[in-house]
Amino acid sequence: MLQTSLKIDVRKTPVSRISELDMKNLQFGKYFSDHMFVAEYADGQWSKAEILPYGKMEISPANSAFHYGQAIFEGMKAYRTEDGKINLFRPEANWRRLNISAERMAMPNVSEELFMEGLTQLVQMDSAWVPSEKGTSLYIRPFMISTDEYIGVKPADTYKFIIITSPVAAYYNAPVRVLVETNYIRAVEGGIGFVKAAGNYGRSLFPTRLAQQRGYQQIIWTDARNHRFLEESGTMNAMFMIDDILITPPLGDTILAGITRDSVLTLARDWGYRVQERKISIDEVLDAHKKKTLQEAFGTGTAATIAHISGIGFEGRDYELAPVEERIFSNRVAVELEGIRKGRIEDKHNWVYQIK
Ligand code: COI
Repeated sequence: MLQTSLKIDVRKTPVSRISELDMKNLQFGKYFSDHMFVAEYADGQWSKAEILPYGKMEISPANSAFHYGQAIFEGMKAYRTEDGKINLFRPEANWRRLNISAERMAMPNVSEELFMEGLTQLVQMDSAWVPSEKGTSLYIRPFMISTDEYIGVKPADTYKFIIITSPVAAYYNAPVRVLVETNYIRAVEGGIGFVKAAGNYGRSLFPTRLAQQRGYQQIIWTDARNHRFLEESGTMNAMFMIDDILITPPLGDTILAGITRDSVLTLARDWGYRVQERKISIDEVLDAHKKKTLQEAFGTGTAATIAHISGIGFEGRDYELAPVEERIFSNRVAVELEGIRKGRIEDKHNWVYQIK
């Protein structure tokens, strides 16, 4: 637990909206809990930390984030354990990654104290919104936007750091079919692919819509130069099990350092799998498919957790993958991660942060 001197003003909602929520029929990202956390940055420091009722905010049409995209975010989840406690999963990794994003986007750092105290006090206050049904959790969305009322192009002087929370069910409720994207690109060396910036998601929407019109749920991005090496898949890191070796693209400018990605690789190594963080081309994947050594393909992410890939589309052909029930590693790792988060399985890596 952090030793903290941070003062957070609290304004509670007079009436909770929780009775409007059907915990058994949650979707992803549609419902928001009673409160939000907001802190403001001006004159080189964060102040005015506050928890207040979730609601609309007044923002100038000249707000700089709208125009030049100084907007970054994180995604994390709070889980209800079987004995009713609330666990976060590796929150300090989200805090670190937020600051990596902030630096690249010329935005201010958020202290660990501000991040963790805002987060824990908010989740404590809205603890009734942490669902307990299988596969559900409270999705937590910390984000930072610039707030200068100014449309000259420069890093802003003022920002807001905000945390909102949303009770959610699984992001994908079935295995996904993915299209290998060889026209549009997500990221390029020297760019911001490794940053959790709003713009990375905005640029993905049009190509994803084209893929969805062709019957795929997501795309797998390829490298900007040759469109041969696989990168991320939609909002997830991509992984392949070929001949009992777990292969995933290496971190770098173009890949988000996923916390689920890191957790999956750690567990795979614990279990004695060979793990390779290296470039992997579509040719290698299709060759393995042909030789029947492509055992599994899946995406990892906070929202998606472990999302099985059922089929891959490339250059007008579809390649079907093994039935999900036969996928030994991804099924095992999904169960293990869920068990650790929910307190059923020993947390050997100290990943769980219990909200007291
Ligand atoms: C997450 O997995 O938390 C993400 O950021 C995906 C989100 C854009 C839905």
